[in-house]
Amino acid sequence: MSATYQRIVLASRPKGQVTPANFRLEQVPMPQPGPGQVLVRNHYLSLDPYMRGRMEESKSYAQPQPIGETMIGGTVGVVEISNYPGLAIGDTVVGLLGWQECDIADGRQLMKVDTRAVPMSAYLGPVGMPGVTAWYGLNRICEPKPGETVLVSAASGAVGSVVGQLAKQAGCRAIGIAGGPEKCEYVVAELGFDACLDHRQHADLGSLVRALREVAPQGVDGLFENVGGACLDAALACMNPFGRIALCGLIAGYDGQDIALRNVRMLLVMRLKLQGFIVSEHMDAWPQALAQLGKGVATGRIKYRESVAEGLAAAPEAFIGLLAGRNFGKQLVRLA
Ligand SMILES: NC(=O)c1ccc[n+]([C@@H]2O[C@H](COP(=O)([O-])OP(=O)(O)OC[C@H]3O[C@@H](n4cnc5c(N)ncnc54)[C@H](OP(=O)(O)O)[C@@H]3O)[C@@H](O)[C@H]2O)c1
Repeated sequence: MSATYQRIVLASRPKGQVTPANFRLEQVPMPQPGPGQVLVRNHYLSLDPYMRGRMEESKSYAQPQPIGETMIGGTVGVVEISNYPGLAIGDTVVGLLGWQECDIADGRQLMKVDTRAVPMSAYLGPVGMPGVTAWYGLNRICEPKPGETVLVSAASGAVGSVVGQLAKQAGCRAIGIAGGPEKCEYVVAELGFDACLDHRQHADLGSLVRALREVAPQGVDGLFENVGGACLDAALACMNPFGRIALCGLIAGYDGQDIALRNVRMLLVMRLKLQGFIVSEHMDAWPQALAQLGKGVATGRIKYRESVAEGLAAAPEAFIGLLAGRNFGKQLVRLA
């Protein structure tokens, strides 16, 4: 085992768009696990849009990421040394070990996972936090009923791809919004959505609304919102009476862009329910969601795609790409 390992810390807070200069790669001494702790070698790091919010100092649902400390992040890896009776050398574990090749952790904070039927990396995607996010927002907030129409933005991504597939399994019509013809083609042909709208083809709100009405002529009953701005505004214009909106993310505004809405009156006139949610505040739902998602991936009923950056040093560019839509499916970094 080497005496050092690499990690990436937050070097500075972004002003507008994130740049590589906001991060610093460091070589640090390998720690030794104490009683109850294990040493984990991370095989994959998950890159997620929420990290952008943590880079800010402003008020949010979570504490800001401190400058000079390892960037927060979900990981899956293998135990190399164990002083914790519940974990053995060679076990695969999911944790929040951050942007680094290795770390020690309290054994109780790691979740041992079975990689016989579900690949290790899927525990950071459809059978992990993004999958549970899709499951929770769809089932607990959109409450889909057979025959209804569910619309999801960022439809080819880690969360959106699962939303549409679960909506189809619930007997709904699934409509996606995604960026570019290749993503839209994948959403329909591979994931089985009924239609997918390319938001990049529509420069103004009116054009987006007209196109959405064409692919969803029966209106939208459940909206799973990942983007905000024009996508949310267009979707509001197409909502049916008593529709439900799960406000999951507003990625169009994460760099501080103005994401004001023009169709807010639809909330009133269509008597809509809109609820924001943070998946980590609903731990009671995780076991049921993970059981269904794990079975879905193991049997091939839930399909997924990954964009994998190679090596820790590639993480900043991959993260910047994720925020700009250059990822195609779940964005990961392979570390081992
Ligand atoms: N509430 C929660 O607990 C929770 C948990 C997890 C994730 N989330 C949120 O869920 C959303 C999706 O996360 P994810 O991990 O699945 O990411 P993702 O969809 O895999 O990747 C982000 C995607 O957002 C789209 N995007 C970025 N900027 C956009 C813009 N200006 N207009 C339209 N689309 C844009 C891009 O897709 P296109 O190329 O298709 O436009 C990009 O690929 C994010 O908003 C995230 O913050 C919330």
